[in-house]
Amino acid sequence: MKVISTEYSQILAIRLARALDCGVVDVAFSRFPDREIYLCAGDLDREMVVIGSVVESDAFVQLLLLLDACEESRITLVLPYMGYARQDRRFKPGEPLSARAVAQALSHGPDRVITINIHDHSVLRHFACKAQDISLAEEIGRYFMGSSIVDPLFLAPDDGAATFAKNVASVGGWETDHLDKTRISGSEVRIAPKHLDACGREIIIVDDIIATGGTLAAATSLLKEQGARSVNAACVHGVFAGGALAHLAAAGITDILSSDTIERACSRVSAAVPIASVIRA
Ligand code: R5P
Repeated sequence: MKVISTEYSQILAIRLARALDCGVVDVAFSRFPDREIYLCAGDLDREMVVIGSVVESDAFVQLLLLLDACEESRITLVLPYMGYARQDRRFKPGEPLSARAVAQALSHGPDRVITINIHDHSVLRHFACKAQDISLAEEIGRYFMGSSIVDPLFLAPDDGAATFAKNVASVGGWETDHLDKTRISGSEVRIAPKHLDACGREIIIVDDIIATGGTLAAATSLLKEQGARSVNAACVHGVFAGGALAHLAAAGITDILSSDTIERACSRVSAAVPIASVIRA
């Protein structure tokens, strides 16, 4: 078995190869004069793990090319972050189901697909092969076992992320809740933890994705107004689109943790071991 990666998931690929105790294939990446992507893979194995997060269009094309280069191997495709997975509904005629389009395009070649905390499990049905999602809730929970935050309150930004937050918090037996919107008047909405009080607490907001940071920035400002001692965030996929990190710093967030499904300076939790366990199972 060998691991082969796009340019976008090299760190996780190396960690995964270490966890699987196998080699990483050396790949030369360049561009043709018209900017089309060229790649050439070194020695492949009969059993290949192709890994790459779909963080932008070039990352997607590199994955397609790697899958084609590995056509003679048995392939496990690992999509640590599957971009477009959130586009799984049509709001008006003429729109594509982008999640389906991406899944179908990546279904040519692999025997199976592994995703990490995919936004909605229903997207897995669009792959033409066996597809399985892994959650990093336990890894994120374990990270906070060693942190200086003594009695954290884990908050999901909405009902949808509540189970994930609960799974993270259960690692240390910490309290958990989700943010809830209460309409006070026609123009006034109060966002606060549904059951618990934020006042004086060290809060960790847990979400699958931080994209623009809009959800988190709004929650941070409100929790600070409600007397939270500190507001921190933990997510699996740190997309951080546009000026998300600066936006969050301005909103008063203390610290942000993400995983290496997208390689960032704050990627202090790795998906490598959970992925390796599923591959070896
Ligand atoms: C929403 O359902 C997701 O779980 C995230 O809360 C959302 O995608 C985050 O997006 P943004 O950072 O742009 O607010």
